[in-house]
Amino acid sequence: MATDLRRLARDVLMADTIDSKLAAVDVLAAAAEAGCGSDVSVPGTDVTRPGRPDKPQLVPPKALPKRSLLQTEGRAALLHAIAHIEFNAIDLACDAVQRFAEMPDGFYMDWISVAVDEARHFRLLQEQLAGIGYAYGDFAAHDGLWEMALRTRHDCLARMALVPRLLEARGLDVTPGMIAKLDQTGDTASVEVLEIILREEVAHVAIGTHWFNFCCRERNCDPESTFLDLLKDVGRGALRGPYNDDARRLAGFTSGEMRGIRVLANDAV
Ligand SMILES: [Fe+2]
Ligand SMILES: [Fe+2]
Repeated sequence: MATDLRRLARDVLMADTIDSKLAAVDVLAAAAEAGCGSDVSVPGTDVTRPGRPDKPQLVPPKALPKRSLLQTEGRAALLHAIAHIEFNAIDLACDAVQRFAEMPDGFYMDWISVAVDEARHFRLLQEQLAGIGYAYGDFAAHDGLWEMALRTRHDCLARMALVPRLLEARGLDVTPGMIAKLDQTGDTASVEVLEIILREEVAHVAIGTHWFNFCCRERNCDPESTFLDLLKDVGRGALRGPYNDDARRLAGFTSGEMRGIRVLANDAV
């Protein structure tokens, strides 16, 4: 009997330990590689809370202390924050696969490939944390990524705009600064990990752009103004420069979108 990839993606989403979630991604990846398909006619499950390990404790972003990168604890906190983003990104990619029905096969395959990348990113950061005596769950974290998933749970177009093209694109902007700071501490191994992540995140945002444009074509709406209107309604608080224009261009942002983002960000000040 054929295995349905969208059901396997939901298994990833609902897995509630670190090890079981990573193992479920491996099962999903193997099934995708073996040529299993997706039943696109099955409506997605409206998961409002993914399976999660007991730790990290989730707190409002303002409750997270700032720590100096000169101390090992500060470096661990930074690596932990990125690991948390990667762990959530596994859920976000798998939620897109399991939730949104009636999309072309390429949509499901793209987001499965993103989930596989995110699991690899998470494992790389786990190794870096373990090397300095820490583990995922040792610090508190915030829930901003999944909150945006909830806000866009009924609309694939809005999800593509506001998760990959707003939140993941923000990662493109801030990662070079983190790489520079880690470089100053001499932590070359973590620098290498972040360089891999930055390179691969460009591809994730590009996948978001591709399917955002697809949804716009389907609905006969103009991508640029639709994107900027969504940012205005929901995401303008998350806009902050400086922007990584080169990476964003590679990820499919148009010069009109970048101009619009800058105008909106200034408006929000
Ligand atoms: Fe990632
Ligand atoms: Fe990503």
